[in-house]
Amino acid sequence: MKLIVISLLAVGSWASSAAPAKSDAAAGRKIFLAKCSTCHGRDAKGSAVMAHLFRADLAKMNLKGEMTQKMNAEDVAKIIENGQPGTKMPAFKEKLKAQQVTDLAAYIKSLGAPKASKGR
Ligand code: HEC
Repeated sequence: MKLIVISLLAVGSWASSAAPAKSDAAAGRKIFLAKCSTCHGRDAKGSAVMAHLFRADLAKMNLKGEMTQKMNAEDVAKIIENGQPGTKMPAFKEKLKAQQVTDLAAYIKSLGAPKASKGR
């Protein structure tokens, strides 16, 4: 009995805090331009200036590149939430709502869509 109550509670809190299933890439784009473009560039290909400053690999900051695009939206969302430990990619868990993270991931995945012919 106790177990049922606990799992009901868990479902309840999941339903209220987790990202709604729908993602909105257009909304994600706005968030991207506001929060991410400084480092990733307005075109999401990565800022060469920032890469130089951070001594980071520009290819890893290019979100249109294969490395990012071969991930699914969930993996991209996890990186947005947790950042990339040991790099300059910050964690946005405290700064963005779950819906915003979902929208951002959808936007980033949409950037790879035109070239999706190869593979899938
Ligand atoms: C302070 C600079 C900075 C900001 C702001 C920033 N990033 Fe990053 N991001 C980086 C760097 C640097 C990397 C590459 C890390 C590495 O070396 O693996 C990265 C990597 C990533 C990756 C993984 C790419 C891959 O293929 O491994 C994703 C996805 C990403 N960022 C998304 C975002 C999103 C979305 C935002 C805005 C909410 C954002 N970043 C804001 C610096 C930043």
